[in-house]
Amino acid sequence: MASDKVRGMNTQNNPPRSVLITGCSSGIGRCVAEGLKARGYRVFASARKVEDVEALREAGFDDALQLDVRDSDSIQTAVRTVLDACDGRLYALFNNGAYGQPGAVEDLTRAVLREQFETNLFGWHELTCAVLPAMRAAGEGRIIQDSSVLGFIGLPLRGAYNSSKYALEGLSDTLRVELHGSGIHVSLIQPGPILSRFRANAMRKFHDNIDVAKSPFRATYEGMLARLNKVGPAAPGTLPPEAVLAKVIDALESANPKPRYPVTWPTWMFVVLKRVLTTRALDRFVRKISKDENQ
Ligand SMILES: NC(=O)c1ccc[n+]([C@@H]2O[C@H](COP(=O)([O-])OP(=O)(O)OC[C@H]3O[C@@H](n4cnc5c(N)ncnc54)[C@H](OP(=O)(O)O)[C@@H]3O)[C@@H](O)[C@H]2O)c1
Repeated sequence: MASDKVRGMNTQNNPPRSVLITGCSSGIGRCVAEGLKARGYRVFASARKVEDVEALREAGFDDALQLDVRDSDSIQTAVRTVLDACDGRLYALFNNGAYGQPGAVEDLTRAVLREQFETNLFGWHELTCAVLPAMRAAGEGRIIQDSSVLGFIGLPLRGAYNSSKYALEGLSDTLRVELHGSGIHVSLIQPGPILSRFRANAMRKFHDNIDVAKSPFRATYEGMLARLNKVGPAAPGTLPPEAVLAKVIDALESANPKPRYPVTWPTWMFVVLKRVLTTRALDRFVRKISKDENQ
């Protein structure tokens, strides 16, 4: 059992530990913000839309703030606000705010792929670099990255999202090694399917950015849309966002946090398959499940 100090509780002389979270308007971000607040952390819950910041304040997040990871000014302003508020002592950053851009690789324009990386990678990188000096000065810190099973397994029609999460895994692996000995730990959370607004948001991006009529994947998209439209769990093994919260707590409170936290049995299955199968055999398996999934 972690001590109060490690848990972030307010003890005699220690202020609560501070955590900055992105993407708290819904899903995993909102759940983790609530869970950590209940656990005694000072949670800087951020959202990209002003109305969502208001909703967070109304829900009791007094330190809620606006942060759009696509926008450098927004990132730098948010970090200044957070560091001013907690006397420069930010214990952890949970990089979470992101979206999935569905579509076959050949249907992605350069601009659409770039947008995916602006949000899912470049913004997270800039935000991380902006908080690291304060963590270095404190001699401790936690960078927790909300990656995905799609950060190490490629599935059809998810190339933009897949590549952004693969890149995140690479960047985080390097950062972890570079920060060794600094007191700052880097952990990747790898959820499989989690109940959230992710599918609804992905659907919007698909309609906005993919020219279905011109695509050789027109027929496949119909199956994919049926999957994204399903109400409730769309994939086997779907878990509520509390499953991610449990791993975030471990990454925050363990004296020696893990580099990777797989979440859901589909992620664990792919961890094992990636180790034991050849690339060709894994491709065959991926083709088979994708055919079933998109029918
Ligand atoms: N759900 C899953 O099955 C699943 C599986 C693996 C990994 N993940 C990862 O979990 C994380 C959270 O997703 P979720 O499942 O909770 O989906 P979600 O309900 O759609 O939440 C995504 C959050 O990210 C925010 N966001 C989007 N663009 C942003 C930007 N430019 N700046 C700041 N925030 C932004 C969204 O804000 P708006 O409301 O303003 O759009 C929303 O708050 C993501 O990193 C995702 O890749 C999810």
